[in-house]
Amino acid sequence: MKIRGRTTRSRCIGAATVALVTAFGATACGSDGGSGTGEGEVEVFTWWAQGSEKEGLDALVGVFEEQHSDLKFVNGAVAGGAGSDAKNVLASRLQTNDPPGTFQAHAGAELTDYIEQGDIEPLTDAYAEEGWDQLFPESLLEQIEQEGEYYSVPSNIHRANVVWANPAALEEAGVDPNAEYADLDAWIADLEKIEEAGITPLSIGMDWTQVHLLETVLLADLGVEAYNGLWDGTTDWAGAEVTGALEHYETLLGFTNSDRQSLDWPDATQQVIDGTAAFNVMGDWAEAAFASQDKVFGEDYTTFPVPGTDGVFDFLADSFTLPVGAPNPDASRAWLDTVASAEGQQAFNAAKGSIPANLEADTSEFGEYQQTAIESFAQDPIVSSLAHGSAASVSWLTDITSSISQFGSGGDVASLQEDLAATAEAQLAD
Ligand code: GAL
Repeated sequence: MKIRGRTTRSRCIGAATVALVTAFGATACGSDGGSGTGEGEVEVFTWWAQGSEKEGLDALVGVFEEQHSDLKFVNGAVAGGAGSDAKNVLASRLQTNDPPGTFQAHAGAELTDYIEQGDIEPLTDAYAEEGWDQLFPESLLEQIEQEGEYYSVPSNIHRANVVWANPAALEEAGVDPNAEYADLDAWIADLEKIEEAGITPLSIGMDWTQVHLLETVLLADLGVEAYNGLWDGTTDWAGAEVTGALEHYETLLGFTNSDRQSLDWPDATQQVIDGTAAFNVMGDWAEAAFASQDKVFGEDYTTFPVPGTDGVFDFLADSFTLPVGAPNPDASRAWLDTVASAEGQQAFNAAKGSIPANLEADTSEFGEYQQTAIESFAQDPIVSSLAHGSAASVSWLTDITSSISQFGSGGDVASLQEDLAATAEAQLAD
């Protein structure tokens, strides 16, 4: 999906300043605005439509219904991991002045896209009124702030560089389930053994999950500084370090399931849950899939940072916005209140596998995996996820995804690197 540039489309509310005054008081567009959302309703647009992701959303909705019993939650979810379909649907709704009451957006570069396109209202006044700027980590606030204004309310923090493993499958393949891998080569040596044993070494799904794997491989081989440099032009995409990472990526892809294009992340992770695959690289929404099937951390499954990325937190955060022209801005604001609240974050994150963005949320009852994420986020260097909107704009991610897609259907490393380097050059020149 190419996100359109700044447009002059007409809006339900004209100038942003007018919207600012009206957003939290009288309804700006009335209940006849937007997609037909009625008075007292808020349509919440996400891609948490099914399975463990929906369970997370349901937990948040439960708190919303307690905190705002006069309002009705309307589920606007569009299925597809990482928003692979939802983002297209959202773009066309925004284009046609049919915004939902609020939509999910990743903190960081993806949010900047929406800000620059004039799709979302600043929430700085709400931050000041509610003291939200005291609730969230500084590093996260930086990702939702532009020119002194805050633009969304973060609901959670996910870690992307996690390997999910099935110890029983590893034992069956004669691989030590407690092995520690210093780098990708050490891990690849064990993937070979697993393949020989007739078990899928590394499960994966459709394009976006491949980009997710690529990002962790780039981080493993380049390290924090050079990985960060990919997004600001200080690391050369055409350089030898990137070539090495792409070769590792090619090798890893060779150990994955051949039906990958037809699977979304829950199916790929399920292979590890079932033991038909040994490993899966996925963000820690996978934790919710294991937990919701009563799998026990340390027994039925284990996790470790993608080899070569130990001691680094590959970060992404979901957040919620107030769209320009939202049908019932006061109801949208109520949703944002719940998202920000310690109760909302506790319930949501416990079920979602992520960790709360709100530093006051109680995490004492969170599971063992989540405790590892809390510890890593507090002490390790943090880098921005590519596949989940933190590091690069939607259009850059879209271009990388199409190069990865082409590569997966029979491309070679040299052409992939040429494509990635050309894309980076074009994007950074913008
Ligand atoms: C990410 C999102 C997560 C999770 C994941 C898989 O982009 O931030 O919350 O939903 O996609 O769909």
